[in-house]
Amino acid sequence: MPVCPLAELSDLSARAVRVDGEPVCVVRVGDAVYAVRDVCTHAEVALSDGTVESDGTISCWLHGSRFDLSTGEPDEPPAWEPVATYATRITDADGVPTVEVSRRSNQETGTSA
Ligand code: FES
Repeated sequence: MPVCPLAELSDLSARAVRVDGEPVCVVRVGDAVYAVRDVCTHAEVALSDGTVESDGTISCWLHGSRFDLSTGEPDEPPAWEPVATYATRITDADGVPTVEVSRRSNQETGTSA
């Protein structure tokens, strides 16, 4: 599903979108584009409001857990469950490089709050 032109996603930024009605956080780190469920597994705040790091992680703005954007795994508490990840790709939509997000690529998780 196309979510936004690649040019609208600046380096080390995150954007909140919807995929099949679900909140998804799309992130750009250099030439790589990632997508994770836009809900922290600790207390259900939006990860898209967090900080994107150049090492391919996003830090939750509320308590600071950092999630690996490739695996969805948090690297430190208080979050301990992984966030769902989605496959991404860049397609050519009428000459415009566009970010596409597919269905989830890892297991859905609940919250640990
Ligand atoms: S709400 Fe994200 S780490 Fe607590």
